[in-house]
Amino acid sequence: MSDKQNIYILAIESSCDDTSAAVLYNDNMLSNVVATQKIHEAYGGVVPELASRAHQQNIVPVVHQALAKANIDKKLVSAIAFTRGPGLLGSLLVGTSFAKSLSLGLNVPLIEVNHMQAHILAHFIKEGDKKVPPFPFLALTISGGHTQIVLVNNYFDMEILGETLDDAVGEAFDKSAKILGLPYPGGPLVDKHAAKGDPTAFPFPKPKVKGLNFSFSGLKTSILYFIQRETSKNPNFVEENLNDICASIQYTIIGILMDKLKKAVAQTGIKEIAIAGGVSANSGIRKALQESEIKYGWKTYIPKFEYCTDNAAMIGIVGYLKYLDGKFSDQRIGAKARYVI
Ligand code: KG4
Ligand code: ZN
Repeated sequence: MSDKQNIYILAIESSCDDTSAAVLYNDNMLSNVVATQKIHEAYGGVVPELASRAHQQNIVPVVHQALAKANIDKKLVSAIAFTRGPGLLGSLLVGTSFAKSLSLGLNVPLIEVNHMQAHILAHFIKEGDKKVPPFPFLALTISGGHTQIVLVNNYFDMEILGETLDDAVGEAFDKSAKILGLPYPGGPLVDKHAAKGDPTAFPFPKPKVKGLNFSFSGLKTSILYFIQRETSKNPNFVEENLNDICASIQYTIIGILMDKLKKAVAQTGIKEIAIAGGVSANSGIRKALQESEIKYGWKTYIPKFEYCTDNAAMIGIVGYLKYLDGKFSDQRIGAKARYVI
């Protein structure tokens, strides 16, 4: 086993439809391999049983590739970190069982990781002289399964200030895209078309939700009714206006997120803002945050694309931080589909 200066973490992520393995040397990423499962495209969403099966097929080659890319022998690994939850139980079970066996086989400690904490702590993976957010900061975690504003007091001291009452923001993107006939996952495609459209072309109503909570199901319904109404008048409405529709949807969603962030800043007095999760890859939200530095005097932290969507490097950094604290798990640990921060 390595000392506390030379720590090699092998990390495994399998919570949804990406099988990923990474190797970190302390807080440096040496490799981050992601196998994205294409099979779900045909179904318009993730099919849990198919996801589990694909994880089983992918996990061994992905781990091998991560070790090969990092150019280290598995005997050097100091600990195995894995995503315990939240996520799809069948998917989580594949990564959890694999990690447990590997830790036994290599005789190194096992470290369980909360996927949502990992999205936030991805900001602490070393990237040259890029600045990391100072504590306390606010994190807007926006993914396919979650939408939260989190007060981050320390690495493992986090408090959810607000969250979605129904759909996650990634779902809002994906379901809107589905209404427009775009394949799954539609978020990146809405983003792509939005870049060429007019964000004010079609105004959509913003939900009125108290406090720092969110709601996106009403927006999805109003988009559905709008598209049904317009296509009954002009069957080519979507294809003739796709860029403007996407730009308008994206503009509305970003407006909802920014309004709540402003409220959170006013409530806490904290102006250090980080974004995390798959939707933080969205170019509109990245731009809105960058502009907020001048507009509102915030300091913003935007992850590089590789660390936005699901990846094992973010699991690895949590593994490293827990390793320093000696926070290890034992072999009785199980996967946890619902797992709060
Ligand atoms: O964090 P993530 O990879 O998986 C979950 O933990 O859910 O997030 C996936 C979500 C999907 O809903 C996907 O459509 C969305 O992130 N997403 C985007 C973009 N890239 C990924 N949504 C909008 N714009 C993007 N560029
Ligand atoms: Zn995620």
